[in-house]
Amino acid sequence: MFTEKIIKELSGYKTPFYYYDLTLLQRTLDAVKTESTKYNYHVHYAFKANTNPEIIKVISKTSLGADCVSGNEVKCAVENGFDVSKIVFAGVGKSDEEINYALDQNIFCFNCESLQELDVMNELAAIKNKVAAIALRINPNVDAHTHKYITTGLEENKFGINPYEFETVIEKLKQLPNLKLIGLHFHIGSQITDLGPYKKLCLRVNEINRFFLNKGYDLPVINVGGGIGINYHEPDKENILDFATYFKVFHDFIELRKNQELHFELGRAIVGQCGNLVSKVLYIKNGINTNFAILDAGMTELIRPALYQAYHKIENLTSSSKSIIKYDVVGPICESSDCFGKAVELAETKRGDLVVLRSAGAYGEVMSSRYNLRDEVRSYFSE
Ligand code: LLP
Repeated sequence: MFTEKIIKELSGYKTPFYYYDLTLLQRTLDAVKTESTKYNYHVHYAFKANTNPEIIKVISKTSLGADCVSGNEVKCAVENGFDVSKIVFAGVGKSDEEINYALDQNIFCFNCESLQELDVMNELAAIKNKVAAIALRINPNVDAHTHKYITTGLEENKFGINPYEFETVIEKLKQLPNLKLIGLHFHIGSQITDLGPYKKLCLRVNEINRFFLNKGYDLPVINVGGGIGINYHEPDKENILDFATYFKVFHDFIELRKNQELHFELGRAIVGQCGNLVSKVLYIKNGINTNFAILDAGMTELIRPALYQAYHKIENLTSSSKSIIKYDVVGPICESSDCFGKAVELAETKRGDLVVLRSAGAYGEVMSSRYNLRDEVRSYFSE
């Protein structure tokens, strides 16, 4: 994707910055739409992955709903014209203020994560004389086999309601007239690259769906969350996820009744590959065993490698050298974890070269910080 023309254009911008390919974003959105409509599936964009205004503007023009995890994300969705009847609001710790705001907007559904939250939600809805539509976020105890910080569907995780609590929830709901249970919600983790855990999830969903039906709850909404991973190692080989295969797993394994809709919450798979972090090499520091390429971007711009030991492909965009050298590619922040990659093979690199960290569109800019009083990271866009 980095043609001579683009590299020349990028050389004119002040580094570091995020560079987004809006054409790729649009093509990804088109693929999601084509493949999900085959089965009438409902897809919500997970705002947490990227809330850059230009990205949100592009996504708002599609028919996608919004998956939000804070009052401000709900506000961002509303203000950008997302249909309120397609906004879902999840989170283990929704504040009263956030719940009240979302109740005022009449959003589609609150994904409730604990028995305690049900009480609070009912109380706040009652004050407004409203009935809140809710789905129970269920912890299905399915191992997503991903990094421990981004696995969410195990008993040990803080998310969701556990099956041993179902009877209590059902009893409780009978006493909460300002809540209407419309669905079941699941999300087992993020950056899941094997479809096996999703098959397991489908089977668990079928069991739980049957359990609730037997208890008299014929629920119209089944929401299986998101989490499908992208190819960080070869972004050019697979810059748009194989959504056909992904959705087909659910089509093949989930048993929906005629009146039931299937919902998804996709973040990374939509925005991951369209974003790149572009940085300039400040110094090449040669040690006895290790060469360091010190960039002007660090963990303040992209925290994923420091936080999850995540891999992002690193490329030197401007070196024309034929010799390949190993570098520890690091940032300028005063933390040893501020390292993007160890022994990374790059074309011989010198001060002033432009380096790109690929596949940084999801959980990149949105997790940036101003630690060390760094400037806010900029962004530029290709049409
Ligand atoms: N639904 C729920 C309830 C979630 O918690 C998440 C992500 C998603 C949907 C969207 O997941 P996705 O399709 O984007 O995988 N910062 C981490 C990822 C955290 C994901 C949190 N939840 C990272 O950089 O890898």
